[in-house]
Amino acid sequence: MAELVPVQPFDMIVFGATGDLARRKILPALFHRWCDGQIPQTSRILAAAREDMTTEEFLERAREFINGAKGEDKWSAFCERVSYTPVDAKGEAPGWGALKSALDPQASKARLFYLALPPSIYGSVCAAIAAHGLNTPGSRIVLEKPIGHDFHSARLINEAVGQAFDEDAIFRIDHYLGKETVQNLLVLRFANMLFEPVWNAAGVDHVQITVAETLGAGKRAAYYDRAGALRDMVQNHLLQLLCLVAMEPPASLEGDAVRAEKLKVLRALRLIGPDEARTGIVRGQYGAGLIGQEAVEGYGEEVGEATRTETFVALRADIDNWRWSGVPFYLRTGKRMATRRSEIVIQFKPVPHDVIQADAGRLQPNRLVIRLQPDEGVKLMLMTKDPGPGGMRLRYVPLNLSYAEAFEADYPDAYERLLMAVVRGNLALFMRRDEVEAAWRWTDAVIAAWREAGLALHPYPAGTDGPPQALQLMARDGRDWY
Ligand code: NDP
Ligand code: BG6
Repeated sequence: MAELVPVQPFDMIVFGATGDLARRKILPALFHRWCDGQIPQTSRILAAAREDMTTEEFLERAREFINGAKGEDKWSAFCERVSYTPVDAKGEAPGWGALKSALDPQASKARLFYLALPPSIYGSVCAAIAAHGLNTPGSRIVLEKPIGHDFHSARLINEAVGQAFDEDAIFRIDHYLGKETVQNLLVLRFANMLFEPVWNAAGVDHVQITVAETLGAGKRAAYYDRAGALRDMVQNHLLQLLCLVAMEPPASLEGDAVRAEKLKVLRALRLIGPDEARTGIVRGQYGAGLIGQEAVEGYGEEVGEATRTETFVALRADIDNWRWSGVPFYLRTGKRMATRRSEIVIQFKPVPHDVIQADAGRLQPNRLVIRLQPDEGVKLMLMTKDPGPGGMRLRYVPLNLSYAEAFEADYPDAYERLLMAVVRGNLALFMRRDEVEAAWRWTDAVIAAWREAGLALHPYPAGTDGPPQALQLMARDGRDWY
C-alpha cells in the first residue's frame, strides 16, 4: 500500500453529529483515517448536536456504525480524541461556551467546522460561530449538499456563509468528487495523450452518464420528497461528472484552476426551454416491485402520500461551446432501479468509411466506459477480427481494466479522501460558490421548463431500468442507452 502523507494536527467540530450522515459517513471516515495512522495524536473531534447526552453515550451510539474489525485498542484510542457537547448550533444556548473551552486555543492548529446540518440553518450557524469568536484566521468550514433548493436560496446561503468565512475557507462537499474513479477520470484524460485529440465534437458522437441506485427514498423521505431526483442528484453529482468529462485541460490541479474550467462548462450549458423539455426530459416515479428477491413498496407508500416528486429523471443536455457543439450529453439517474450502477460512457463517432466490408459481424463505434461503482474500472470497446479462417469476421471486444483485479490496495472511501483534503486545504475537490450557483441556474430553468410543458410523471416498477419513455429519449436521436 502507498505510504500515507501525514496531515497537520486539527480540531474538527462536527455539528449535526447525531444525524444520519455523521453516523454513517463522517465518523466512520474519521475512524478509518485514524486507524491508518493519518490523523495526528493531538487532533480532536468535537461532536455537537442539540440532544443532551454525555460523550460516553454519544460514543456508544456511534459505535454501532463503526467497523468493529479494526480492533478494540484502536477504537479506545480514537474515543480519547472525541468529545460530545450539546449545543443549539443556531443560537445562544450555553453549549457554545463549553464548545469554546473544549477547543485548542493554539491559533496554529487548523480548526475545521463541519456542518452536517439542515442547509437552511447554515447562515445562522456561521453567524453564531463568528459571534462566539470561534473562527480563528485559519479556520475552514465544510458544507454539505444541497446548498439551497434553487438559485435564489443558494445565493442567500452563500452570502450568509461568506459573512463569516472567506471563499477559500469554504469547502462545499460533493462526495462524488472524492470517489476514486472520479479522480481517475482526471488522470485518464490528462495523463494520457491518446484521448485528447478525439475528445471533442469531431471525435465524440455523444456522452452518457448514468447513476442508478437500488435504494429508495428511505429514512430521508421528508427531504427527498421536497427535492426529487433532479435537485438531489443531477444539480450536483451528475453535473460535476459532466464538467469533468467536458472541461478544458486546467493549467494545474490547483483548486481554482480546476474550478474555473468546470465553471465555464456550467455556464455553457444550454438552458432547456419548454419545447426541448417535451422531447428531451423524462420524469418517473417508482411503484412497488422487486429489488432482487426483495419485495419493496412504491414511493407513495414509502413517503406516506401520493406526491408528484420524480425519483427518476433522464434528460439531454447540450454544451454550447466550440469543443462540444452538437454532442449531446444524456444524463439519467433513478432510485429503486434494477441494479446499482454508476458509469460514464463516451461513444466515439463511427469510422468514416467501411474498408473492411466484413463477412460477419457489424462495425460498431468505439466506446470508453468508465465504471464509477460498483466494480470500478475502465473499459475500451474496440472492433477486432475474430481469429481464424472463415473470412473477415468482426468482433466487438473490451480492453478491460478492473480495479479489483489490477490493484491490490484498498482505497479510502470518498468521505475519507474529502475529509483529509479539507485538513490539507485542497480546494480542488470542492465546489466553489459560482459553480454551485451556475448549476442551480441551469437546474431552475429545467424545472421551469418542465412545469410550463406540463411533463407527465411516468410510473416504473421498482427493480427496473426506469420508465420506457427514457429509451425513447435516445431512440428519437437514433441512439441507445449503453
Ligand atoms: P439528519 O436529520 O439525520 O441529522 C441532522 C443533524 O443536525 C442531527 O444531528 C440534529 O441533531 C442536528 N441539528 C438539527 N438542528 C440543529 C441545531 N439547531 N443545532 C444543532 N444541531 C442540530 O440529517 P442528515 O445527517 O441526513 O443530513 C445532514 C446534512 O447532510 C444535510 O445538509 C443533508 O442534506 C446532507 N446530506 C446527507 C446525506 C445522507 O446520506 N444523510 C447525503 C448527502 C448530504 P439534533 O436534532 O439532536 O440537534
Ligand atoms: C446523495 C443523495 O447525495 O447521494 C442520495 O442525496 C443518494 O439520495 C446518494 O442516495 C448516492 O451516493 P452514492 O455514493 O451511494 O452513489
